[in-house]
Amino acid sequence: MSDAVLVATDLERSFPIQRGFSKAQVRAVDGVSLTIHQGETVAVIGESGCGKSTLGRLVAHLDEPDAGRVMLAGTDPSGIRGRALREWRRRVQVVFQDPYASLDERMTAGRIVAEPWLAHPEKRPADPRARVAELLELVGMRASDADKSPQQFSGGQRQRIGIARALALDPELIVADEPVSALDLSVQAHIINLMQRLQTDLGLSYLFISHDLAVVRHIADRVAVMYLGRIVESGPADEIFERPTHPYTRALLSAAPQLDRADPRQRIVLQGEIPSPTQPPTGCGFRTRCWLATEACAEVPGLLARDNPRHAVACHHPFREPTAQPADENRAS
Ligand SMILES: Nc1ncnc2c1ncn2[C@@H]1O[C@H](COP(=O)(O)OP(=O)(O)OP(=O)(O)O)[C@@H](O)[C@H]1O
Ligand SMILES: [Mg+2]
Repeated sequence: MSDAVLVATDLERSFPIQRGFSKAQVRAVDGVSLTIHQGETVAVIGESGCGKSTLGRLVAHLDEPDAGRVMLAGTDPSGIRGRALREWRRRVQVVFQDPYASLDERMTAGRIVAEPWLAHPEKRPADPRARVAELLELVGMRASDADKSPQQFSGGQRQRIGIARALALDPELIVADEPVSALDLSVQAHIINLMQRLQTDLGLSYLFISHDLAVVRHIADRVAVMYLGRIVESGPADEIFERPTHPYTRALLSAAPQLDRADPRQRIVLQGEIPSPTQPPTGCGFRTRCWLATEACAEVPGLLARDNPRHAVACHHPFREPTAQPADENRAS
């Protein structure tokens, strides 16, 4: 595997909230570590409220962790200021979910794409208009679209403009938080294909946040599954989809209708609600809904690799396929 672009270690982020007359803390991200390599797409999946967007914001330095570090090529943004911090920010760009809300209606597409150069004059090209035209064409738009305003574009076209804006600063990593979920199904595939082409052509890395497992299966190299602010399983996408080992991952994947054909496993219907992130269970966060839970689960399970060093699971009772081991290995044991 090529070099790590981003290494996040033990990230924590809580939010104070008012509950009636008392105050409480939402533990949105609770000890997450994550590495993203050059040219790689790491997807983060999990139910609503599990902390995906908070993690994305921490990685993009749109928010600061209470604890832990986000290192980009060896540099932690919390320790730098001024030009060095600007350079850090330049290298990580964000594509947002809603292309209707994220583009300023009063600006032309050309100004939107050029806007990042105001904060980063060092990246301003000699001929901004020509570069805007180039960027628009790179994302499948026309150079003449630069003079139109966002209202004149469809959702898919708006998202292309959002991507062109993210590319204006030549980033290394793009954090894409549900980049296609606001779009029509027919348009989603075009945007995903565009993102894949740009990745190949420009060597980009993606942190791809999505609840759409079919999209994730298509685009991700690696997958991290989150539950109540923690990563409960992570590994190569094929491994996660073919051999999920955490009970939560198994339940999550079994509930995705798009995946049924490839996956003959029984549907697992989870009992109970997701616990409130203001009062997560002690020990394993999933144990209140887990059909395999035992007393051992009162201890927080570490995120550990088992058979495959790249596939880690935080569970005291991880699932093992009976056929997962080679026959002679079985005989030896
Ligand atoms: N600024 C904030 N103030 C208070 N609570 C917050 C804030 N941001 C997030 N939270 C809470 O933190 C938890 C994680 O939120 P987050 O938005 O990261 O989840 P998510 O996985 O992105 O969910 P979704 O799939 O719905 O987008 C939730 O309980 C949410 O209510
Ligand atoms: Mg979110």
